[in-house]
Amino acid sequence: MDFFATAAKGTEPALRDELREHRFRGVRADRGGVHFSGPPDEGFRACIELRTAVRVLVELASFDAPSGDALYEGVSRVDWAPYLSPVHTLAVRASCRSSALTHTQFIAQRTKDAIVDQIRRRVGARPSVDLDDPDLALFLHLVRDRATLYADLGGAALHRRGYRTHIGGAPLKETLAAALLRLSGWDRARPFVDPMCGAGTIALEAALWARDIAPGLRAQRFGFERWACHDQAAARRTTELRDAARARIRPEGPAIVAADIDPRAAEITRGNARMAGVQIEVRCQSITALAPTAPPGHVLTNPPYGERLPGTLALYRDMAAALSRLAGHRVAILAGTEDIEHAMRRRPERSLVVFNGPIECRLLTYDIP
Ligand SMILES: C[S@@+](CC[C@H](N)C(=O)[O-])C[C@H]1O[C@@H](n2cnc3c(N)ncnc32)[C@H](O)[C@@H]1O
Repeated sequence: MDFFATAAKGTEPALRDELREHRFRGVRADRGGVHFSGPPDEGFRACIELRTAVRVLVELASFDAPSGDALYEGVSRVDWAPYLSPVHTLAVRASCRSSALTHTQFIAQRTKDAIVDQIRRRVGARPSVDLDDPDLALFLHLVRDRATLYADLGGAALHRRGYRTHIGGAPLKETLAAALLRLSGWDRARPFVDPMCGAGTIALEAALWARDIAPGLRAQRFGFERWACHDQAAARRTTELRDAARARIRPEGPAIVAADIDPRAAEITRGNARMAGVQIEVRCQSITALAPTAPPGHVLTNPPYGERLPGTLALYRDMAAALSRLAGHRVAILAGTEDIEHAMRRRPERSLVVFNGPIECRLLTYDIP
């Protein structure tokens, strides 16, 4: 089967590397995600293991759809019995570009009609639509009149790991935090510090990755676990995949520190760490009090910027002064404004464009001499 794992724009190389490390086959990075291939179980494994993937999709069909009727025909050729029966629910979302069909709602509707009509013809009743929590979530992409139909193996976006019960003012998605850790070159061995931690997302993802705690161990049921074809044998294989991931968990990891000037943020981070089942040191302190680690460690932080939590030039200057004192450390900053790079007053070793939702940011990496 052909799979496509989606990633935040700019983080595709992190997802590609992660897929390769987990020995997936046919790994090929593309815009917005990474292709891979294998038997169905590889899709299950991807949902359980991948930290940087936003969604894991499996391709069900690809066909020409220059008209509504052609679309209906193409969708009708898929055998829907493995996925849906009348007791299941579905949702279809659509996107289109450079095609004769231009209304995504119409495309989604025709796709849904073709599916439910097939099942009604076969068994006399049809599955219903549930846009909020469907058993089967489908995506129909139409590009230059060519339709590709995907099913979402995860069911929902994979960033919802289940440990973050509270969020601060401007939280990062867990999948983005995991990708930034990779892109900034953390080796999972050096001490780790996020001195402006908010809800602690980056530090918690660091702790989970360092101990090899797979994100899919605590997830509620994935989408594929609700499909009609997910029988006892498939459930057993999924349990085996989870058991194999669990067996790899390391009992300990390096020292991980999360700090924030806001006592509420520190409290939220402590609560989230308890939920995640990892031990990190949480401090309530200003970045001006940031001290070097021994041995020299890795800093990754996401300072305030933009509308949600405005930053100031004075804060960026304080931050730059504190970070520049960390001789021998690697420092990485997710910067949503050029003011941060100016305040650092040195050229970054690396500057990568990464999107935090719609906000274009730069991941700046410095090796402090
Ligand atoms: C954009 S948020 C971080 C969000 C975090 N990455 C998350 O996922 O929840 C920036 C954080 O910096 C903190 N902050 C602002 N000024 C600070 C300072 N001088 N020292 C330490 N933390 C500070 C804010 O309280 C806020 O929680």
